[in-house]
Amino acid sequence: MAATRRHSVVKAVVPVAGLGTRFLPATKATPREMLPVVDKPAIQYVVEEAVAAGLTDVLMVTGRNKNNLENHFDRNWELEASLEAKGDDVRLSRVRESAVLADIHYTRQGDPRGLGHAVLCAARHVGNEPFAVLLGDDLIDERDPLLETMLDVQERHGGSVIALMEVPPDQISLYGCAAGEATGEQGVVRVHDLVEKPSVEEAPSNLAIIGRYVLSPAVFDVLRETPPGRGGEIQLTDALRTLAASDELGPVHGVVFTGRRYDTGDRLDYLKTVVRLASEREDLGPDFRTFLREHVAEMPAELSAESKVGNA
Ligand code: G1P
Repeated sequence: MAATRRHSVVKAVVPVAGLGTRFLPATKATPREMLPVVDKPAIQYVVEEAVAAGLTDVLMVTGRNKNNLENHFDRNWELEASLEAKGDDVRLSRVRESAVLADIHYTRQGDPRGLGHAVLCAARHVGNEPFAVLLGDDLIDERDPLLETMLDVQERHGGSVIALMEVPPDQISLYGCAAGEATGEQGVVRVHDLVEKPSVEEAPSNLAIIGRYVLSPAVFDVLRETPPGRGGEIQLTDALRTLAASDELGPVHGVVFTGRRYDTGDRLDYLKTVVRLASEREDLGPDFRTFLREHVAEMPAELSAESKVGNA
């Protein structure tokens, strides 16, 4: 993947300090972001997305899971030597790919106090320039370049830009929610109100914040002053509300995404993502699709009629 520099924003921040409790015991010793989506860890898709948008400086805000992540994005000389000796060039290049993808840095969020706090941990590395934040739970299809559009909007309007997606009303409480008015630009709204995980009744719109942000560095000072919000955590959504309300620190725009987004945040969504991406792959897809058709056809009627999956 060729890294291109088309925008002034070059730094991406990727918070990866979560405990991954929804995937226990798989995540007891392995960070959730390292779980494979087909044959690459989820986090690699996120870094590839950043690099494709020209963001080649990636800061991971880690927790206790630093080692596995660092190893994945580093060389593995032993493995490389063994593949080289076997002449297995295809696997060799796959192994090397993640080590040369981006300029990756790490900082540790000692005391996990929420997404806003994780972003604040990036302040020193980012300095006084706009930067992107990518959350590992959301994968955006490379054919639908959301981040590039957000960088364009940030360059034209300044301030901060968030990614939004329409969701059914009963799902809004799973997300931050933003309301705004049309700008005259297709798919771009000027955000004036934000609420973290509102109930259906409280929600000011059906626009959910999905895990991509391009932020003004003004967010750091605001985060320092932002008290714990929902769940007792320092919420990025709360800091964005302050930015949106300020003439000096704003504006905040939202890009309404209508492309393909894959969620890996809980077990059911993760399974759907793996199946979708595997069935579209050139190498695995044909055989996997045949298997899926046969498997579904053979599924006993009582199983295919069930629609509830324990998803907690
Ligand atoms: C975080 C944000 C939320 C956003 C979501 C997107 O929540 O706090 O505003 O809608 O990411 O994935 P989390 O999913 O980490 O609870």
